[in-house]
Amino acid sequence: MLRVEQLTKTYKSGDRPLTVLDRVSFEIEPGTTCAIVGPSGSGKTTLLGLAAGLDRASSGEVWLKDHALHQLDEDELAVLRNRHIGFIFQSFQLIPTLTALENVMVPVELRGVSYDYVAGEARRLLSEVGLEGRVDHYPSQLSGGEQQRVAIARAFIHKPDILFADEPTGNLDSETGEQIEDILFELNRKEGTTLVIVTHDTELASRCDRVIRLKGGVIASDCAENTAGSAAGTINRSTGSDSVGDKVADRVAQ
Ligand SMILES: Nc1ncnc2c1ncn2[C@@H]1O[C@H](COP(=O)(O)OP(=O)(O)OP(=O)(O)O)[C@@H](O)[C@H]1O
Ligand SMILES: [Mg+2]
Repeated sequence: MLRVEQLTKTYKSGDRPLTVLDRVSFEIEPGTTCAIVGPSGSGKTTLLGLAAGLDRASSGEVWLKDHALHQLDEDELAVLRNRHIGFIFQSFQLIPTLTALENVMVPVELRGVSYDYVAGEARRLLSEVGLEGRVDHYPSQLSGGEQQRVAIARAFIHKPDILFADEPTGNLDSETGEQIEDILFELNRKEGTTLVIVTHDTELASRCDRVIRLKGGVIASDCAENTAGSAAGTINRSTGSDSVGDKVADRVAQ
């Protein structure tokens, strides 16, 4: 699904170049979940941006399916991102002048699919994340957790093959954070989307199949057999609840 080879990012700040990622290589299998953890400044956001084709490496390769991202021009990258990649920014990055529904529709609207179809899908996803009563709200009328859920719905509207999330629960209280986690893993399970999640939250990381730890721009450890994550996944799958909306509703009811 995703393969990065000898990925290096060097910034030229001041007189000396600053290498923030140094020959990082790994491969992520389709349909799996991977956490990227590490101290502040270790290069996690930089790595995510490079892997998602939002930023360019100084050297190295990024392969997404059979596409060589490092060889594409800006227009080709935009098309590829729109087709295959979802990205949840830590700061949500919703468009303030659009309603929740319109924000979710943006990625597909850009592709010229019929309005009614996209609006239906956007309503369905907003309902999946428990926001059916907020479709006409503007971002300023939504709480932080609600904005994050709109961002998640938006990231899933075009059914990406891979979803990158940069600290998706970083700004949220623990209960809302847990809801967001459940939504991500549930949508991953239902749609088969590969998840790559940057997080400081050890519990969230332990739910992933794999944990890659960065330190000073290099991989300090790569735990492909995250047994705690498998166990959590088993518990999660055995709750018997099929829809994300049910789960959120269950939690709210508790
Ligand atoms: N445009 C830039 N120019 C110079 N240095 C940069 C630039 N962007 C990031 N850096 C440096 O790269 C390093 C890695 O940054 P990055 O944002 O990837 O860290 P991070 O692991 O995501 O940290 P955090 O957990 O705090 O979000 C930092 O030391 C940062 O100062
Ligand atoms: Mg970061």
